[in-house]
Amino acid sequence: MKTVTVKGVKGFRDVLPDEAEQRCRIRDAAIGVLERYGYREIELPMLEKVELFSRSVGATSDIVEKEMYAFDDRDGAVVALRPEGTASVVRAYLEAGMSRSTPIARLYYHGPMFRRERPQKGRFRQFTQVGAELLGRDDPESDAEAICMVADMFAAAGIDGIRIEINSLGDAACRPAHRDALVAFARDRIDELCKDCRNRLDRNPLRLLDCKQEACSRAMADAPVMLDFLCEACNAHHARVLELLSNVGVEVVPNPRMVRGLDYYCRTAFEIVAPGLGAQDAVGGGGRYDGLVAELGGPDMAGVGFALGIERMQLAAGQQPAAAGATQILVAPLGDDAAAPALELARRLRLAGCTVELGQSGRKLKAQLKRADKEGVRHVIIIGEEELATGKATVRDLVSRQDHAGCFALADPTEAIVSELERHAAAAGG
Ligand code: HAM
Repeated sequence: MKTVTVKGVKGFRDVLPDEAEQRCRIRDAAIGVLERYGYREIELPMLEKVELFSRSVGATSDIVEKEMYAFDDRDGAVVALRPEGTASVVRAYLEAGMSRSTPIARLYYHGPMFRRERPQKGRFRQFTQVGAELLGRDDPESDAEAICMVADMFAAAGIDGIRIEINSLGDAACRPAHRDALVAFARDRIDELCKDCRNRLDRNPLRLLDCKQEACSRAMADAPVMLDFLCEACNAHHARVLELLSNVGVEVVPNPRMVRGLDYYCRTAFEIVAPGLGAQDAVGGGGRYDGLVAELGGPDMAGVGFALGIERMQLAAGQQPAAAGATQILVAPLGDDAAAPALELARRLRLAGCTVELGQSGRKLKAQLKRADKEGVRHVIIIGEEELATGKATVRDLVSRQDHAGCFALADPTEAIVSELERHAAAAGG
């Protein structure tokens, strides 16, 4: 019978061990910062009702219109794999009654998100975010603190050279005037705009400001921007955020054309850009979303947050040398009789905190050593006929290439065995 190899799904990738370790380091560094800022983890489901995203991210956003993995569940509910985390955090906050019990909540999450975009460098259909949401605070200090946290997270992950771009998107009071001016400006140039922008003109005109098509950028180069339409309150909020950031020395770059692809933002919006990543150079983004809690059926409560993309952070961190294999010790049994004592010794060493691989008793010593070399193992503990007869193990140090016959007795306490191995490693210089 002909066998067929089953491959993975386009845009969904495997993370192999070397890469997984780097991702873990980046994620843990980011989470460490979040915890020091007083954020606590919330674990959210990957499946939500589609309605949650159409009412938050926006029915006319690209994410909801074109990119969601949405389907009818067997009971008729229309559900989607989550494309982002903010909407779920707000839903969970309301569902758990936190708007009453913990009105000011600092929550973080991490995990996979799903968007059916065209895969390219830095863009996947399943990707990973670390995100943070602060609910219940509407003051500019919380925006400034969120941006400080972002800067600290990149520093902790060892990624430098990023740029934090900032804008204000106004609020319900000042946005309509900007929208009208923008639509009027675009209508006068409608023939120069791409099909997508013509489509967006009435439904989501803000997106015309950040269309990547050259003809559109040219046509919209002098389009009215929100900053020129801010009401007094939004203007004061924005000025205070900038002032606070300048006081703490966190550099931000104004970008009046940045609009973000999700509809729930108001006032502060920011994006973190890593130059050199090509078309997908946004390594994170966020902002304020004061109307969202009410939009999802809760009280009138403010919110601010952001999410960082782990895959793009990895690209920005650059290729790091592959970590050596994790195993420090190989216990190499030679022959059937050595199998049980080897299994026991390996287990004892692991309980004492060592990372140990157990060799195969049926394989020759040479083959076991070859594998140990490849895995970057430091010590090989050999248990063969002679070792069983004397009750003492031979240790081969793969750095000094020396054999230490009778290095320790198999009956020795585990701590004594570990310190003997450490003593040999130190004598060999490392
Ligand atoms: P977002 O800008 O849509 O914001 O996504 C945040 C980050 O996720 C992006 O900057 C990027 O690094 C990463 N990302 C997005 N799509 C992809 C993709 N297809 N492949 C790889 N990485 C991707 C949000 O999701 C908001 N929920 C952020 C937020 C939280 N705003 C307020 N609170």
